[in-house]
Amino acid sequence: MNQNNLEKLKEELLELYHLSSAVSVLHWDETVYMPKKGGELRAKTIAEMSGLIHNKFVSPGFGKLIKSAKKDLDEGKLNDNDACIVREVWREYSREKKLPVEFVKELAELESRSEAVWAEARKKTDFKMFLPYLEKIVAMKRREAELVGYEKNPYDALLDLFEPNAKSEEISLIFFELKEFLVPFLQKIKKSKVRINEKVLRGDFPIEKQVEFNKAVAKKIGFDFESGRLDTVIGHPFTIHFHPNDVRITTRYNKKDLLSSVATTIHEAGHALYEQGLSKEHFGTPLSESISLGIHESQSRMWENVVGKSREFWKYFYPRMKKEFPSQFSKTSLEDFHRAINAVKPSLIRVEADEVTYNLHVIMRFEIEKELIDGSIEVKDLPKIWNGKIKEYFGLDVPNDALGVLQDLHWSGGMIGYFPTYTLGNLYSAQFYAKAKEEILNLEKEISLGHFEHLLNWLRKNIHIHGKMFSAEDLVEKVTGEKLSNQYFIEYIKNKYSEIYNLD
Ligand code: CO
Repeated sequence: MNQNNLEKLKEELLELYHLSSAVSVLHWDETVYMPKKGGELRAKTIAEMSGLIHNKFVSPGFGKLIKSAKKDLDEGKLNDNDACIVREVWREYSREKKLPVEFVKELAELESRSEAVWAEARKKTDFKMFLPYLEKIVAMKRREAELVGYEKNPYDALLDLFEPNAKSEEISLIFFELKEFLVPFLQKIKKSKVRINEKVLRGDFPIEKQVEFNKAVAKKIGFDFESGRLDTVIGHPFTIHFHPNDVRITTRYNKKDLLSSVATTIHEAGHALYEQGLSKEHFGTPLSESISLGIHESQSRMWENVVGKSREFWKYFYPRMKKEFPSQFSKTSLEDFHRAINAVKPSLIRVEADEVTYNLHVIMRFEIEKELIDGSIEVKDLPKIWNGKIKEYFGLDVPNDALGVLQDLHWSGGMIGYFPTYTLGNLYSAQFYAKAKEEILNLEKEISLGHFEHLLNWLRKNIHIHGKMFSAEDLVEKVTGEKLSNQYFIEYIKNKYSEIYNLD
């Protein structure tokens, strides 16, 4: 391939990125601002534009460019940057090409119908209503795995969409050990005599004041408001990016609970700091794209939990928060506050879980998904299997399926293979943070003084700026000197919660 072809490929890619950015703006507006009745038109507009993008991507012209670039890649003719671009575009292109158009269409329609049925079934706590849809989705996802291909486990073909190159065999082992630690550790916490008063977090917090405080926190940890916005959302909070210079985050507010909006804002700002830190120079190529959902979550969870629920972080922010909300916090010490935001309580609902129990929610979903895809369990048995695991891991009884197997949207939308990325994110975050602590002088002291730029610069330099140059696996090894390990997270949980709950 001559240099001209490669340049042509990059031009085509940039056009595709611009079109995708436009679709993202439409999505953002749909969720944040659009009036209710705009929905029908918006769905059509987005479908039409997505169709254009897809057709451009799989067109014979683009196909010729990427195939000839792939040949150069295989012959070792490309420099590192170009090799990354071609490798990653090829990965996406070849996956897309393996799925027949009718299959993609049928799955998309099934998913959108299933989401609506799932919402209704959850409302009525009626698993049977959702059952035929989920059976169909699992069957189609198995088919997708066969079409895409895999080495050992069909599940890997699905996982690959969210966590490229990850292998379920390795994840199973890492998660199994983590579970073996977490289940008995949770029992120890339950037996602890320490009583934490979470009521100190409740009060009346006017929304306008919460908005101001959330903005101040996001700004202080490094979110650039000239390259982004923070808006309010009714449904699930999210981050969306159009370019490193335009990254939007959202949060939701509860008048009685300031800390829930703050935690959400810090989480989303963590995602956004990654996006704002991607290469502007290489925009329009995989060199300016995040690696995987797991690495993305490692950034949001590091800021939200490892940093944002630490004593040092609140040494800096608590006096400021007290000043803004004096009547709510004047009688609560930093210690009591810190304990309250870290209270551990086994619960039925994943999204409400604390740091200790959260991963058990994810691990059980991962176990179930894997067995659904390899055929060792059946969809109709899910409520029983689900409730059994909740009993075994948390010691809780599930009163109905809305609080059990029907609680998450993921499966109805065909997102099988997504869940493990949450726990991978937690594991990556602890491992990265341990390294940052080694390499940044007095990191925790700096955090307690409100100097967050040391950590942010470290993340920028070691993780953000590389885009997709390295796989998640290679990045972890490059940054920390070893492969992904559960030990850092286990150590982190053990130290933090042994102190809070006075365990020996
Ligand atoms: Co997230």
